[in-house]
Amino acid sequence: MDNKGGMDVDMVTITRFINEQQRASGGTGEFTQLLTALVTSIKGIANTVRRAGIANLYGVAGGAQNATGDEQKKLDVLSDELMCNMLKTSYSCAMLVSEEQEHAIVIDTGKAGKYIVCFDPLDGSSNIDCLVSIGTIFSVFKHTGEGPVTQADALRPGTEQVAAGYALYGSATVIVLCTDSAPNMFMLDPSIGEFVLTDENMKIKPKGKYYSINEGYTKFWDGPTKDYVNARKNPESGSPANARYIGSMVADVHRTLVYGGIFAYPAHSKSTKGKLRLLYEAAPMAYIIEKAGGLATTGTQRVLDVVPQSIHCRVPIWLGSSEDVEEFLKCVEKYGSDHLQGTKLEA
Ligand code: AHG
Ligand code: MN
Ligand code: MN
Repeated sequence: MDNKGGMDVDMVTITRFINEQQRASGGTGEFTQLLTALVTSIKGIANTVRRAGIANLYGVAGGAQNATGDEQKKLDVLSDELMCNMLKTSYSCAMLVSEEQEHAIVIDTGKAGKYIVCFDPLDGSSNIDCLVSIGTIFSVFKHTGEGPVTQADALRPGTEQVAAGYALYGSATVIVLCTDSAPNMFMLDPSIGEFVLTDENMKIKPKGKYYSINEGYTKFWDGPTKDYVNARKNPESGSPANARYIGSMVADVHRTLVYGGIFAYPAHSKSTKGKLRLLYEAAPMAYIIEKAGGLATTGTQRVLDVVPQSIHCRVPIWLGSSEDVEEFLKCVEKYGSDHLQGTKLEA
């Protein structure tokens, strides 16, 4: 840091960081255009989140539901519109998949580029009105198919992502961005309106002291899930793990990345495919955690290997520190995967 009079005069902004990567890899600049649209959207959402109570933006958007049956909040709708508009006009996208849109949006040929972006504009909607951390998640693929793009071109396994990231609207606003190496974190400096690199090559601890799962569903859990959580609470030796569950995936995954531990949203008897959506929640987070040295599994399969059967399909997910996830997989092995809810993944 070249800090003069309290101002870093050589700061690494997210745009500078991507420009450098792009020059090194001989890119065309289209990814920078895409990123600029994402960063503008995230700044807009961050600002709106901070002012929502004053600007009358809490609450539901006229009783509407989104494609997966969730109640849409005013901020869900606004964030979705902003992201769709910024991405459509970035001249870098072939198609968009949003949690809030039933169908994929194919970009007009005149404005089309080569990327397919899948996103959850506002993650953790149930936490909006009580001021708990919320976020935005995105996943980027390259359109490689011949001819006009169709919705089926988004049905790709997470291994094919070229980038993934999230924004967390917490006590500060950060973007965690992952291209082909370990994730990097950029923090919004509100005084200059720029995201500045604060953590490079983030790595997750091999073992953490936190487990994160909604224990309100214990009654519906399968054997391996019950066994694993019980073992964390009542270990044969050592201290019990600490419970942490925010209910916003971005915030729970971010804590897991920074402090280590495990986050899970398993399938259970009342929600047999889990809750989290593969394309814009599970796959991008699995990509980030794996690039940081952790693991992400459905219980029977690496999350990144799951091929989506539809754009809004759900998967069970367990992710985090490698030793913690492996310990869960031992519980699955003990029972046999037939005892695991959600082993037959459907659309
Ligand atoms: P979204 O607000 O985008 O619909 O996502 C909500 C998700 C996710 O953020 C979180 O992990 C999960 O819902 C919490 O669900 P439960 O209340 O069932 O624990
Ligand atoms: Mn979400
Ligand atoms: Mn959402």
